[in-house]
Amino acid sequence: MQRRIAIFASGEGSNFEAIVRACQQGRIDAECVLLVCDKPGAKVVERAERLGVESFVFSARDFESKAAYEAEIVRRLDEAQVELVCLAGYMRIVGEVLLGSYEGRIINIHPSLLPSFRGARALEQAFEAGVKVFGVTIHYVDSSLDGGAIIDQRAFHSEGESIERVEERIHEIEHLLYPEVVGKLLNCKQ
Ligand code: GRF
Repeated sequence: MQRRIAIFASGEGSNFEAIVRACQQGRIDAECVLLVCDKPGAKVVERAERLGVESFVFSARDFESKAAYEAEIVRRLDEAQVELVCLAGYMRIVGEVLLGSYEGRIINIHPSLLPSFRGARALEQAFEAGVKVFGVTIHYVDSSLDGGAIIDQRAFHSEGESIERVEERIHEIEHLLYPEVVGKLLNCKQ
């Protein structure tokens, strides 16, 4: 059976698109069967429509608790027989219900060289600290904040560039690295 992945995103969705295209072009031997998005109206939802990926878009406030919306997400992941969940700019902390069912099968991409600069605004934090080596990390998701086991990283040197340019370079790396790591992980699990 074709391997099945899901991607969770809250915003722009450029990483979502990079992974979906890699699947559609056969660079990853899998199908992205579901987008989970917690922001109705986010650009990523349009991308999913354009790329023919089914989406589950929800507002947390329509559910009585985090456990309740995560239970619905788990139901949909189970139904779609998803074996790997890729967080790509999903701006919510993964809670007990989702981890209870999928821990070890959820990965995230983070725009810093972890363990430096965890949490939101990672690039801004790195910039403010004056670092000269920036990078991207892909890691497993656990109950800590960006603290799960590191799967892969890429670094680059930058001095005197604007934060916008550094962000562009981070995205260029992410769009290559994330599909590559997803492909490798699925191969290992075969
Ligand atoms: C990426 O930089 C990723 O590292 C971070 O959120 C950003 C998402 O960008 N977690 P996009 O929505 O995929 O364009």
